[in-house]
Amino acid sequence: MTHTRLRHLTSVHDLDRAMALRVLDTADAFLEVTRRPVRKVPTLRGKTVINAFFEASTRTRTSFELAGKRLGADVVNIGGSASSTSKGETLKDTVATLDAMHADVIVVRHVASGAADYIKARTRASVVNGGDGMHEHPTQALLDAFTMRRALGRIEGLTVAICGDVQHSRVARSNALLLSLLGAEVRFAGPRTLLPHDRESLGAKCFDRIEPALEGADVVMMLRIQQERLGSALLPTLREYARYYGLNQKRLALARPDAIVMHPGPMNRGVEINDDVADGSRSVILNQVESGVAVRMAVLYFCASEPGQAIGAD
Ligand code: CP
Repeated sequence: MTHTRLRHLTSVHDLDRAMALRVLDTADAFLEVTRRPVRKVPTLRGKTVINAFFEASTRTRTSFELAGKRLGADVVNIGGSASSTSKGETLKDTVATLDAMHADVIVVRHVASGAADYIKARTRASVVNGGDGMHEHPTQALLDAFTMRRALGRIEGLTVAICGDVQHSRVARSNALLLSLLGAEVRFAGPRTLLPHDRESLGAKCFDRIEPALEGADVVMMLRIQQERLGSALLPTLREYARYYGLNQKRLALARPDAIVMHPGPMNRGVEINDDVADGSRSVILNQVESGVAVRMAVLYFCASEPGQAIGAD
């Protein structure tokens, strides 16, 4: 399989339908690589990937690091208290510094919405958004779509209920954009204070109760209650939230019998999702984590390999 270059991926808007499907198809091949005894191909040998994570992350940061290493790239991680931003360096100067080191790809996670686009305008490297504030998390949406396609065999025609703190969720925003592009129906469910203001532009139907959103759904995606981004006025108490919006077995029974349960993580167990659902037979939460490495390998391949280069996974 050869590729079309992906210059940047800071938003799902950087993808058209054909490119999104190309990433998913390529991730299928890379998933096979990640399951081999020797999980490595030389596809990005000589390329440099810098993971610049200025906000906490377990899944995204680790999977981008593994993805780069499994493709044979040189991978460097910076960010947080170990980087010079903690000494007052501006993001502009940090980016100029990374650019001077000839990074091929900069993966960025930042608390500020728009940080990935800010960096994109100031570097020659390809920039991949690993989650910026309340804006977007495009590789999460790709890995979610990939997980759905592997579990249910298709994306087109699926009904996907995305439930919880939608307003503050970059995951919900990117998923709504990508799933609409790929022909799925998206429903948002949550308290009115946590539903997005720009719901029409995201192409989603909104429900202020979870039950009607779950009825007949193929996919139930629960979102984390983001206590760090919530004003107390938006939500009475976590206990009340769990009572009216938490996913339990009784509510899950409203979805299709073969519906899958997803969560981007990290989970607040007992708040947005009960243990028996998170760990139950319909949960694909750890499949999402596995998918993350393969999908991020595909994204790095499209951003950093030479035009016409094969994926090297045969
Ligand atoms: N889903 C996700 O972005 O998880 P992390 O914050 O652990 O990267």
